[in-house]
Parts: sequence; structure tokens; C-alpha cells
Amino acid sequence: MTATRPVVLSGMRPTGRLHVGHLHGALANWVRLQDEATCFFFSADWHALTTNYHQTETIKPAEREMFVDFIAAGVDPEKATLFVQSEVKEHAELFLLLAMITPVGWLERSPSYKEMRENITDRELALYGFLGYPVLQTADIVLYKANRVPVGVDQVPHIELSREIVRRFNAQFGPVFPEPQPLLTAAPKILGTDGRKMSKSYGNTIDLGEPAEVTRKKVMGMVTDPARKLRTDPGNPDVCGIYYLHKVTSAPETLPWVENGCRTAAIGCVDCKKKLLERLLPEQDRMRERREALLARPGDVEDIVELGTRKAREVAQRTMGEVRAAMKL
Ligand code: TRP
Ligand code: SF4
Repeated sequence: MTATRPVVLSGMRPTGRLHVGHLHGALANWVRLQDEATCFFFSADWHALTTNYHQTETIKPAEREMFVDFIAAGVDPEKATLFVQSEVKEHAELFLLLAMITPVGWLERSPSYKEMRENITDRELALYGFLGYPVLQTADIVLYKANRVPVGVDQVPHIELSREIVRRFNAQFGPVFPEPQPLLTAAPKILGTDGRKMSKSYGNTIDLGEPAEVTRKKVMGMVTDPARKLRTDPGNPDVCGIYYLHKVTSAPETLPWVENGCRTAAIGCVDCKKKLLERLLPEQDRMRERREALLARPGDVEDIVELGTRKAREVAQRTMGEVRAAMKL
């Protein structure tokens, strides 16, 4: 008897360069999962449209960089299927069918919908597509019958909604889809140069494989414990972004040096940052070399994604056959 491998699916919206936070969060998990599960990782380019419909020309270039970053970070196209959402039209078809059984109230209650409508004020978001985003996300997941979905905590309500839609579909038409589970893998906390969460929308990121000089300048200028004003003031590493970068980058024996040195003012922030750069800069160099090698052979990444998309399409078409049969369409 063969135990069935779990099916893992996750996507990212191609809206900009990936950063150190992505590397140690999502991508590290993906790389681990590709050995344990049947994995699908995709560019959620239609999802990008729900918020970036005003700059659609940025999506395809960002997507290419994103796939390069996936592979440079260790996602292995021999193990995981990499594909583009909009190249598998079944996502749109299933989205439409699922929309027929999804109550509007479920969507309006979604916390990220409410939060983004409050936070994004520079453009119209009272849009049908934006409201329906979790239905499209459900289609993404269940087309591949994924049962494990690695996401950040903010996405968990979306997966809950997916489960509700799946339950309603299965109750109405028969058991076609497994109920997806969020896979909450502990993502380390990574702060940006300004001390807030590292995020492209805050403009505080350290981008993967950026030139060493750029990373060095960012790190040397990075906000530390704001209460540590003088070199002689003791500090608190738990409120400092440099410490969180040490945790994911430096050798284990460096951590007590940072913790004790900071709390007793035995080390200064400049020492601490230089120590971080000893590992961070070579890590960035390796990432840049891998990125450049991939970018130098333009066809390669395209071929990988095309092959992955073809594989994804086969699975999606098979599922749609079952869906149409179940719905008697
Ligand atoms: N909503 C996710 C995000 O904004 C991206 C995404 C789209 C996704 N479809 C998905 C993630 C399906 C997991 C599974 O980050
Ligand atoms: Fe942050 Fe290091 Fe300075 Fe402490 S010594 S505040 S951990 S940079």
C-alpha cells in the first residue's frame, strides 16, 4: 500500500522584487516541502490585477524576476511544478462556477477585504473582482485538489473560506474536492530598515541578490533599538531588526554574542551590524550569482515555466472534467 503524498499549493502575486523576508519565510518552507509533497507553486498574476489593475505593465516583468528568485532560492523545478495562473484558463472557469454558490456575505466578512479597503485609499477597491478574490483563490487551490496550503497568518481566513465553499460544493454536487488546510509554518519575524515589518509597500526591504553596496548601506543605516541612544546605553535585541536578521543569517554562536553584548553595552550597534554583514553579504552574493546565471540564459526560465504550466493544465483539465460531470454540465 502506498501512502498518498499530500498535495501542496501556494502562490505569490507578481507585484515586485522578492526580499529577505520572502526568502526566510515562504521560500524556505517551499524548498523543504518539495521533498515531502507533490508541490505546485504559481504566479498569481490574475490576483495581482485585483489591486494593481492601474499598472498592469509591471506584472509580467515582475513575474519573470519572481520565478528567477524561486529557483535561485532553491525551489527545484524537477521536484515542484511552477506555473502561471492566467495560462491555465480552468482557474477562470472554476472561479465562475464556484461564484454561483458563494454567498456575498461570506466575502464581505473577510478581514483582509475590510482591512485593505481601509488601508488602500489611493485607488478604488469597491470592485467586484476584489471582493471575489477569495473565490478565485479557492479555485486555484481545489483545481489541484491541494490539501495543504502554506500561507502567512493573514491568509488563514481565506483558506477557511475555501473550506466553506468546498463543503457547500461537495454537499450540493457530491464529493469532488478535499478540504484544504492552511499550513502555518513558523515564519521568522523579519523587520525592514525602518523597524516595521519588512514589506514592499513600506519601501523598507533588503531585496534578494541586490548589489553588496546597496545591502551594506541599508544595514548600516537600519533602525536599531530606538532606546539605545548612546554607545554606552544597554539595548534590547528583541525590539531590533538587526537581531532578527542575525537569527536567520548568522552562525548560532553569534546569537549569544549579540544578546549579551547588546544588553550589557559590551558591543555597539556598528559592531553588531558589521558582524551581520559578514554572513549577509556573501549570502547576497551567492543569490546574485545564481540569479545572474539564470537571467543570462533567457530561454531557460521560460521553458521551465512553460513545462510546469503544461503539467498544471493537465491536472486542472482532469479536475474540470469531474466538476462538469458532478454538476451535470
Ligand atoms: N492570496 C495570496 C497572496 O496574496 C496569493 C494566492 C493566490 C495564493 N492564490 C493562492 C496563496 C492560493 C495560496 C494558495 O499572497
Ligand atoms: Fe540591535 Fe545589535 Fe544594536 Fe543591539 S547591538 S540594538 S541587537 S544593532
